[in-house]
Amino acid sequence: IGQFGILCFLQAWQDAGLVLSTTSNEACKMYDATLTQYVTWKNDKSLGGIEGTLSKLQAADPSFSMGHVIANGLVLIGTGSSVRLDRKLDDAIRKMVAVSQSQPLTEREKLHVSAIELFANLPRACEVWEQILQNHPMDLLALKFAHDTYFYLGQQTQMRDSVARVYPHWTPDIPLSSYIKGMYSFGLMETNFFDRAEKLAYEALAINPTDAWSVHTLAHVHEMKADVKRGLAFMKQTENNWKDSDMLSCHNYWHWALYLIEKVCGCVFSSIASRCQLSGTMLDVVDNSSMLYRLQLEGVNVGDRWKQVNQLTKKHAKDHILIFNDVHFLMSSLGAQDHKTTQELLATLQELAQVPDEDHELNLVPELGLPLLQSFVEFEMGNYDKAVELLYPVRYRLVEIGGSNAQRDVFAQLLIHAALNCKSKANQKLARCLLIERDELRPNSPLTERLMRKTTTLHALG
Ligand SMILES: [Fe+2]
Repeated sequence: IGQFGILCFLQAWQDAGLVLSTTSNEACKMYDATLTQYVTWKNDKSLGGIEGTLSKLQAADPSFSMGHVIANGLVLIGTGSSVRLDRKLDDAIRKMVAVSQSQPLTEREKLHVSAIELFANLPRACEVWEQILQNHPMDLLALKFAHDTYFYLGQQTQMRDSVARVYPHWTPDIPLSSYIKGMYSFGLMETNFFDRAEKLAYEALAINPTDAWSVHTLAHVHEMKADVKRGLAFMKQTENNWKDSDMLSCHNYWHWALYLIEKVCGCVFSSIASRCQLSGTMLDVVDNSSMLYRLQLEGVNVGDRWKQVNQLTKKHAKDHILIFNDVHFLMSSLGAQDHKTTQELLATLQELAQVPDEDHELNLVPELGLPLLQSFVEFEMGNYDKAVELLYPVRYRLVEIGGSNAQRDVFAQLLIHAALNCKSKANQKLARCLLIERDELRPNSPLTERLMRKTTTLHALG
């Protein structure tokens, strides 16, 4: 395993032009193993997962700067914590900077340290990783951090092109090179190059069928094309290959569930809920909220499931790390009718947005975050015209809060449902226009057809 899976890890990394400033081969090996688990979305149980690997890394060389970089970077990229919220993380980052200044590092390593240091300013952190990649296209950590951060920023073209620029360097003899195909295919898919994305993801899967990220690209391709039949068949056929990729399996089940929501039936839902309860990671938590919300929009009674999700989300209601996360926490506090948490979430967000400083997300709150969040509140209260009034003007800017097109589709669905329920004729007309647009871009969707029937009923009644 590993990016350069041979005995002398230090030498191998150096030979690849990626010097790691440590004298400990063990530390280098553990860095390699951590990176591998991150890129493959799979905790290696024999090493105690990423957490156990990082402990071993730290023990082998406490002053290994790139060890500090990967450890802190992974916490930040998980978006469950930030230096503003977590004193221990803030201390860890200060320590990383101090350690890095006490030794002669390479230029590349220094840049890695500074990217982590200015992480709250997501676009600037990406600039630094790109600077690294210009000289070191094989720097997989920079590539993957940038990939994930572009995703949070909703910068889909950048996410694609970042991988495109290094892609030819990743020849098949290089370990993990098939995963670069998977990353590239995801960017191609999010920018609507579905055929190229599909071809590349299948190439990656031919090399490694357990590549859960390439499976994920294909799940998206079928989703974007509303090809429910192929999507369901593909997920079922490949389930055994990706279900053990513990960092992504919940999300892949979520994609499976999207096909089922199109058809409105359910059994995969419990796979999502149980994984989400176990991991508690942000990706799993937002997926769970999103799934319940979509079911509820479809008129499904989700019972007390909101209460379970809300148990996980309410402790993050005041975090405000990503607007994308916030809106999913809001869905569950609204769903659970936890008015106190809803109020706290909105009040603390407004408060923080008064002094956004360098925090990229907080700067998006007034124009984008608040109208989006408030539209959910208005919808919940039955103020459908108001919900449309808030959501419709920002719909083309919502990409800026990040997430995938499939994930953000819940906002498009909310807008249509709100418009359908409006008293005003103009908004009912808008619902029909939005559904025509949806059907044009993504034909044969059962969900779109169901909603279309509602507008026809309204029309007949009106
Ligand atoms: Fe996805």
